[in-house]
Amino acid sequence: MSDTIFVTGASGHLGRAVIDNLLGAQKVAPARVVAGTRNPEKLADLAANGVKVVKADFDDPAGLEKAFAGAGTVLVVSTDAMDEPGKRLRQHKAAIAAAARAGARRIAYTSLPNAENSKVSFAPDHLGSEQAVKATGLPYLIFRNSWYMENLHMSLPQALKTGQWFTSAGEGRTSFVSRADQAAAIAGALANPPAANTTYTLTGSEALSNAEIAALASAATGKPIAVVNLTDEQLAGGMKAAGVPEPVIPTIVSFDTATRAGDLATVTADVEKLSGRRPTSVKDWLAANKAALAG
Ligand SMILES: NC(=O)c1ccc[n+]([C@@H]2O[C@H](COP(=O)([O-])OP(=O)(O)OC[C@H]3O[C@@H](n4cnc5c(N)ncnc54)[C@H](OP(=O)(O)O)[C@@H]3O)[C@@H](O)[C@H]2O)c1
Repeated sequence: MSDTIFVTGASGHLGRAVIDNLLGAQKVAPARVVAGTRNPEKLADLAANGVKVVKADFDDPAGLEKAFAGAGTVLVVSTDAMDEPGKRLRQHKAAIAAAARAGARRIAYTSLPNAENSKVSFAPDHLGSEQAVKATGLPYLIFRNSWYMENLHMSLPQALKTGQWFTSAGEGRTSFVSRADQAAAIAGALANPPAANTTYTLTGSEALSNAEIAALASAATGKPIAVVNLTDEQLAGGMKAAGVPEPVIPTIVSFDTATRAGDLATVTADVEKLSGRRPTSVKDWLAANKAALAG
């Protein structure tokens, strides 16, 4: 039976980092790794290193089934398709069904914390995808990934520039985790899968409020940030006035709603358990990224 590990979205940040960790820290032979992407030409270096690189587009189910043929474990990396309601779930279901039809032995999927109840606007896409994985009846691994520390590149530069961080997250906390740590953990689980079906929640080792993160960012950069607490409606209104495209405003506001509700505050030891290393702290990540954040 095949013991190959097929990673979709292999030219994305996470997919590529998972493959690099499989080949590196996990010492998986290149011949056991398959990289699936819409753009195989972007992964010529992996192909040159002995990794099979194939075209895999979730919008092309027939092509996907061929791509997955012979795969042992298939990691379905969630897509970034946010432009059309329902599209992402349709894509994930197509990928999961194609993996099952192609004879995969195990399916893995990247989800989000508290998928059942999360107030993040697209949480139902992830819950529906998790349910589709389980409905195949195949052994599975679910990785519920907390927010990337890299997401702070979206909020902190403006806050450091203006000295104000507008948020409706209140005292809610987020267990930020670097994408590199998530990838290391996912690769660890794929290379050494547990005997039982498992749902992991991949988090940093602490959950911090925006006020705590602002204080750490100020200490790292020497620039003050005042956190301005707003309601969801005020935050949405401010974004509209600032020219944020209207269709994306409810999604962005839902991140703060979810944070306020505690949906992103779960802390587990799964990253260290799977990767063998302690996750990077927010403090250390800010120190390493202060130049990019403070512009
Ligand atoms: N936890 C968080 O904070 C957080 C933040 C942002 C995103 N995410 C989620 O995590 C995923 C991976 O993150 P990332 O940082 O690697 O994102 P990224 O670098 O923006 O990559 C986007 C990913 O979507 C894949 N994709 C898009 N359309 C596809 C299609 N039609 N068929 C197959 N794959 C498709 C891409 O694969 P190819 O280009 O290789 O085909 C790529 O892997 C994202 O796509 C998103 O679902 C999580």
